[in-house]
Amino acid sequence: MTDRLEGLRAAVELSPDNAGLRLVLAEALEDEGLVPEALDHLGRLLDHGGLPDERLVATGHLALAHGRLQLAARCVDSARRAGVAEGVAPLQQALEAELSEGGVRRLAHDPLEEAAAGATTRVVGPEEHATFADVGGLEGVKEAIHRTIVLPFQRPDLYERYGRRAGGGVLLYGPPGCGKTLLARATAGECGLPFLNVRVEDVLDPWIGGSERNLHDAFTDARDRAPCVLFLDELDALAYARRKQGGSAGRSLVDQMLQELDAIGSDNRNVLVLGATNAPWDIDDALKRPGRFDRVVFVPPPDQPARERILSMQLADKPLEADLDVAALAGRAELFSGADLRHWVERAIDVAIDEALRGGGDVPVTREHFARTADQVRPTTLDWLGTARNYVEFANESGRFDDVLEFLGGNEAKRWRSRIPKRRRHPDGPE
Ligand SMILES: Nc1ncnc2c1ncn2[C@@H]1O[C@H](COP(=O)(O)OP(=O)(O)O)[C@@H](O)[C@H]1O
Ligand SMILES: [Mg+2]
Repeated sequence: MTDRLEGLRAAVELSPDNAGLRLVLAEALEDEGLVPEALDHLGRLLDHGGLPDERLVATGHLALAHGRLQLAARCVDSARRAGVAEGVAPLQQALEAELSEGGVRRLAHDPLEEAAAGATTRVVGPEEHATFADVGGLEGVKEAIHRTIVLPFQRPDLYERYGRRAGGGVLLYGPPGCGKTLLARATAGECGLPFLNVRVEDVLDPWIGGSERNLHDAFTDARDRAPCVLFLDELDALAYARRKQGGSAGRSLVDQMLQELDAIGSDNRNVLVLGATNAPWDIDDALKRPGRFDRVVFVPPPDQPARERILSMQLADKPLEADLDVAALAGRAELFSGADLRHWVERAIDVAIDEALRGGGDVPVTREHFARTADQVRPTTLDWLGTARNYVEFANESGRFDDVLEFLGGNEAKRWRSRIPKRRRHPDGPE
């Protein structure tokens, strides 16, 4: 067993981005009772979107049992955001009980988290960038970003000559794992600019005024680094904060965001702003006024050609059987997000690696490996589409979710209709 552990540790070190492999290592560590190390890996998977939704609650409990409260809290938030229903409430209660015992300050006592504290902004230099070519499909979304953000930056002269106001941000919304963050990073790549990634959740601070100050610091940082792309990710956390803190406290964070956006609009057009949210219905209308987020764009699950492209990108440079039929695989992956596709690829590769470890020499990835792991993956977009359908039915008076409506009326969504969960409550009712 220890041999296997050693092998897995080495393999993860060699391919740190292989989430499936890291998950296998975490499981093996947990089996051996090496829970803190397992939690380090699970935490990292959570950060990089590689922790399957169905593992969130279990991971939260494990973290809680080992005093890793911040990690447990992040599991609760992610589970809520991913629409996981089962077991989240009891986990949250257990976490809150633990927190009220030790006081909020205990949150900061997780050694791993402490190291990351203060880092509300992640910066990626232009050299590490993705470009639009790395994003499969989403041609309409790329076009909207190109017009609203890339072109005004590259050709300010044109906009001036025609007296057209440049600037304003683009807000991306849609199910998790479909490329919003990737698109934002790729926008920076298209412009050859540094990319500042601010997760609103990281801005949140339990102390009065702390969240507003963190947000202000993030924008100041962006102005100092201009020209750059500032990405405000997971804007849903704004609304979440408002609900949780009740009225005024959360409101002032929204106000701070409005102020900062307005300041960027007038002071400095060299900070290009993108935002993303899984919950557009929670976004304050004030954020969508001209000069703030001018365009609100739906980022749907990839269609067949996009899935083929994403699979091909993820399989590039891997040892594959000669006639692996990527189109057929894509055909079996309706409504899969890009992240789900990646998950499936990683699962299939894991099986090939296992075979190689067991002494099969170099084992190419085959159709068979995909077939054998097909039952381990499912389209995680279904939960989001269920929630979206609910909102669209109740709250589309202004037509602002027409794109979602069109998607729900499309053939793929129709084929999956019975699997898209129905929610009965009114969207503005209690959670
Ligand atoms: N359209 C896409 N093209 C290529 N890869 C994608 C696409 N959508 C998702 N992915 C893969 O899934 C991962 C997660 O996507 P991400 O951009 O974080 O989703 P979101 O921000 O919408 O939740 C990406 O890092 C990428 O590996
Ligand atoms: Mg994202």
